[in-house]
Amino acid sequence: MQLIKDVLIKIIDYSLPGQGPIDEHGGLTTFDCNKSNLEVYDYMKNVSKTLFGSNLLMDFIAQKGFGGLSDFTDFFYMYPGAAKLIDTRVIGAIYQYLGAGAKIDFAGLAAFNMDEKAGELINYSGLFHHDSVGSRLKLFFPLNPEGNRDYPTAYISGTHKLKWKTYINPVNSNGSRIPDELLKLYSDVSKNEKVVPFGTSYLFDTNGIHSGCYRPSSQPRLVVQMEFSNRKSLLVRGKVGPSQFNLHSTAYEHFSELKLLRRSNIKRQSDDNYLHIGRSNRRNILNLSDVLKESE
Ligand SMILES: [Fe+2]
Repeated sequence: MQLIKDVLIKIIDYSLPGQGPIDEHGGLTTFDCNKSNLEVYDYMKNVSKTLFGSNLLMDFIAQKGFGGLSDFTDFFYMYPGAAKLIDTRVIGAIYQYLGAGAKIDFAGLAAFNMDEKAGELINYSGLFHHDSVGSRLKLFFPLNPEGNRDYPTAYISGTHKLKWKTYINPVNSNGSRIPDELLKLYSDVSKNEKVVPFGTSYLFDTNGIHSGCYRPSSQPRLVVQMEFSNRKSLLVRGKVGPSQFNLHSTAYEHFSELKLLRRSNIKRQSDDNYLHIGRSNRRNILNLSDVLKESE
């Protein structure tokens, strides 16, 4: 069965355009506060301040083990202005890489507990890996006031085109996920470490080799995340495809204008709330609104 999946993923990836600025290295800085929309930058700065200033949220995140993830799926309902991180230039790059049929699969906030006192590290994304699904794009916008300086995302330039023998990517008996021989081919891995400063977002093909970094810190790591895939890819890629998340009507309208939404996956809830339906394949379906509510 896996063999069939592997072959199908290769065929689909072969059919993607794979062009434009993302194709050069496999990753692209898509938002830069020095050059991009200042209004969006100020908005994100306020969101960062609000979230890091919430004791309720910080306490909630701290309950998880070291590296533990809380996935908040209503971030774009609470903070719809973040949808503007995707503008026509970014869309252009996504379409050039994945094809004009590319859609948004997920939009939310990932929060990682970085306090080592919370136990053994429980997150394997800190090891070099690929996401087991072939080509799809993920966008990271760190909300930490210092950006992801202490928790950089490392991306090995040029590895987005690797055709894996199998797309299964577990931890091996030697404690790694990518063979050392392969990593050695990319002589200076550390040069490829991307420090994404606050006010900057990074969009990359998760078929390429990447890793998070889990340096202990009293501050949690908060990352706005979005995922994009080509519509052709849904059947064969385990974790790729529409997930469940909420959108405020203004975020819904923005994504809708950019033709990023699958109409059949949108359910209007109440006046301002749109539910994007899909597989609940996030590890947690958590509402930021519930956590923040008590602070009102
Ligand atoms: Fe990953």
